[in-house]
Amino acid sequence: MCGIVGYVGKKNTKEILLDGLKELEYRGYDSAGIAVLSNNKFESFKAIGKLVNLQEKTKDFITEGFAVGIGHTRWATHGKPTELNAHPHLGENSYVVHNGIIENYSTLKKELMESGVQFLSQTDTEVIVHQFEKNLKSMHNAFEAFRATIQELEGAFAILLVTKAEDKTIFFAKQGSPMLVGINAEGEKYFASSDTPLIGHCTDVNYFEDGDYGFVSAEELSIFSKDGEKKAPHFSKLSTDKLSAQKDGYRFFMEKEIYEQSDVIVDTMMGRLSDEEILFDEIDKSLFDGIHEIKLCACGTSYHAALSASYLFERYAKIKTSVEIASEFRYREPIMTKDTLFVVISQSGETADTLETLKMAKKAGLRTLVICNVDNSSMVRLSDASILTRAGIEKGVASTKAFATQVTLFWMLTLYVAKLRGALKKEEIIRQISLLREVPASLIVTDELHEKIKRLSKRYLHGHGFFFIGRDIFFPLALEGALKLKEISYLHAEGYPSGEMKHGPIALADPELFTIALLPQHLLYEKSKSNVEELSARDSTICAISPLEFNKADDFIKISTCRDYMLEFFEMMVVVQLISLEISIRLGNDVDMPRNLAKSVTVE
Ligand code: AGP
Repeated sequence: MCGIVGYVGKKNTKEILLDGLKELEYRGYDSAGIAVLSNNKFESFKAIGKLVNLQEKTKDFITEGFAVGIGHTRWATHGKPTELNAHPHLGENSYVVHNGIIENYSTLKKELMESGVQFLSQTDTEVIVHQFEKNLKSMHNAFEAFRATIQELEGAFAILLVTKAEDKTIFFAKQGSPMLVGINAEGEKYFASSDTPLIGHCTDVNYFEDGDYGFVSAEELSIFSKDGEKKAPHFSKLSTDKLSAQKDGYRFFMEKEIYEQSDVIVDTMMGRLSDEEILFDEIDKSLFDGIHEIKLCACGTSYHAALSASYLFERYAKIKTSVEIASEFRYREPIMTKDTLFVVISQSGETADTLETLKMAKKAGLRTLVICNVDNSSMVRLSDASILTRAGIEKGVASTKAFATQVTLFWMLTLYVAKLRGALKKEEIIRQISLLREVPASLIVTDELHEKIKRLSKRYLHGHGFFFIGRDIFFPLALEGALKLKEISYLHAEGYPSGEMKHGPIALADPELFTIALLPQHLLYEKSKSNVEELSARDSTICAISPLEFNKADDFIKISTCRDYMLEFFEMMVVVQLISLEISIRLGNDVDMPRNLAKSVTVE
């Protein structure tokens, strides 16, 4: 997730901006920059990598007296992590920083370039400052030009813009990406994309609402709503605890990241869905020329995402798909053919086993693709092509939102390949895309659901083990649920195909054996139901998750009646994540940093 800071006042603007960016480091980034306007003179600095690099670059830059300044930490989504792509982005006499994704940036960029504008970066953000200066030339009023620019943007954005045309003012706009402004008794104004940078500087903050835009100067704070009406700021007191602020008030980063999934999936899909097709501007269709098989390779949760994808690729894209656990694939002398597209999946892009299989595939002459959350990671740099999941930094060691974005991206990629291969009719692709658009709603965590799982979790703190069971694509989800529970509660759990229970594991069935049963309405319901009834008949303790009432379970968690099994998948994913979270919290474990685990396993 990118970070934004801004300042209007007389203190040391450079230090305030750099300190603010430091408070946003927890959000993850790969480059950073600031721009300061004082006495109608700009100074701007950018650096890739950690903030210390930016601090080094600015060490001789001293700010004193009144200034306006903006700063940004960037998590790459459009364009590699380079200084040119780092924010702030310059027009002629204006700088802008931006969080979010400008969906119509290609159109705007094309028009601007045709009018002679020279672009320096690959980012979507740069169109904002050039569009503003285009409007300023015709309107001769900075605020009107800014307002017109905002109205021409589509997508999600939190924007700060400074310009010599109004050199004591910061213009702001908020649509879909968070931002707030803080004030204090000294008349200073602070902006940030989350409240931690404001703690200790501001007493009162105004959290902007979608559609808000306006400007701040030493004298005033003017906010306008989407309909152009001026609105009074709504100030609230600022929390004083930085760590809880970083967790946005959640108990653990993992909990925050479960709740973030709905918003994050919007980013994952942003700019990639039209009503009739999937658009990946990071890859070329020729990547799939002559490809007759897809081989997916990963570890842990990413392996579960790969296994989920295999069902979708074969069902919808009608392409042979195989899935490998990287640590096994490395040493079994596999047969690889050049008509296979080798796809590695990794949140970190640094997992040693997965990275080694990527090297094996490249050495064997296969075309390679990586699905990854970290641009410029080893796997992204090594593979022939990459698609970023845009999950933002995932602080919890137990992966949640990364998994959600991986499965969503694979669903999208399946439709992309299905269209290429003519494997799905246009109407079906349109229907599937309409289902994809419902995924964010499927990921919303309701208080009712979370409270129910909190209550229910007290019954599952012991026993001699858990089975998570599911059929078809719900089998990898069962594996993922079992892994989540193992990782953070340290209780034994296995994911198992429902149909396999009678081939041995059912011997374990007794009241101390806890079964979490995934019973989707739209995929093999009757068969899954009978598998669960076999366990119930042997007195196993069962927690059933389904949209359909199931009275042979000891606990029942109802999910929504969905249009399709994939929406059931995402609702059940949230349930199994919350079950693990609440059991682990009851056991008093460190949910975010479980014993023996690392966020990225960069060794064998
Ligand atoms: C998942 O909760 C674990 N943290 C772990 O299994 C992880 O998915 C695995 O180590 C792979 O990591 P990667 O996605 O960064 O390659």
